[in-house]
Amino acid sequence: MTFLNEFLFGIYPYIAGTIFLIGCLVRYDREQYTWKTSSSQILGGKHFLLGLNLFHVGVICLFFGHLIGLLMPHSWYPYLGLTPSTKQALAMTAGGIFGTLAFIGMTILVHRRLFNPRVKATTSKNDVFILLLVYVQLLLGLATIPVSAGHMDGSVMLLLADYAQSIVTFKAGAAAHVEHVHWIYKLHIFLGVTTFLVFPFTRLVHVWSVPVKYISRSYQIVRQRA
Ligand code: HEM
Repeated sequence: MTFLNEFLFGIYPYIAGTIFLIGCLVRYDREQYTWKTSSSQILGGKHFLLGLNLFHVGVICLFFGHLIGLLMPHSWYPYLGLTPSTKQALAMTAGGIFGTLAFIGMTILVHRRLFNPRVKATTSKNDVFILLLVYVQLLLGLATIPVSAGHMDGSVMLLLADYAQSIVTFKAGAAAHVEHVHWIYKLHIFLGVTTFLVFPFTRLVHVWSVPVKYISRSYQIVRQRA
């Protein structure tokens, strides 16, 4: 196994994970006023809400799809009527649908950020960086689909799931699972891990603050001026 493979897929995820957790804790503790989505809705922009909603529906489904799909033990597949091959097909279909939704949404958001003068004037380099990182990551995810279509036996999907499970359970030798997979999967994993690394330093921290109480909270009373 090459040192680079071991470093990028065996060690780097733990460096990124540590920075992610400690960075979020420190920012939450010390920089409360910067813990926000930095909403730009007030600045308008054609199709903004369409783009934002498409992106969020897509990316949230992708997040849970990856979480469940990669971390579910292989021994559970038969209980859900799945074989490695059908599970791969399911992952490709769901990933394809939600990836496309998120990609269309992000295309609208990136276009608005870069070309709407009012939005551009309030945009930092950090905003552009994180938007483009997520955009490229979405593209890479979609680009894995035709590669996966070349081997529908589920073998690569099992390797990727073994890799993710080894990483989260601190098993030695995780990087060996992905050593020989296509570079597009490797790049997708690398960029995904990098997203965790930069997460605490960007507006992505808003993901922690998912407003779960929104559904059950009391109505806000809004009165018109007399
Ligand atoms: C957990 C549920 C989530 C909620 C409630 C949420 C909510 C929001 C809100 C309110 C905004 C600001 C929109 C505005 O400008 O008015 C926003 C923007 C954004 N969110 Fe989320 N979000 C969630 C999850 C995510 C996830 C998982 C990602 C993953 C990458 C993400 C990435 C972004 C990005 C990149 C923006 C900036 C869009 C732009 O201004 O162009 N969000 N989100």
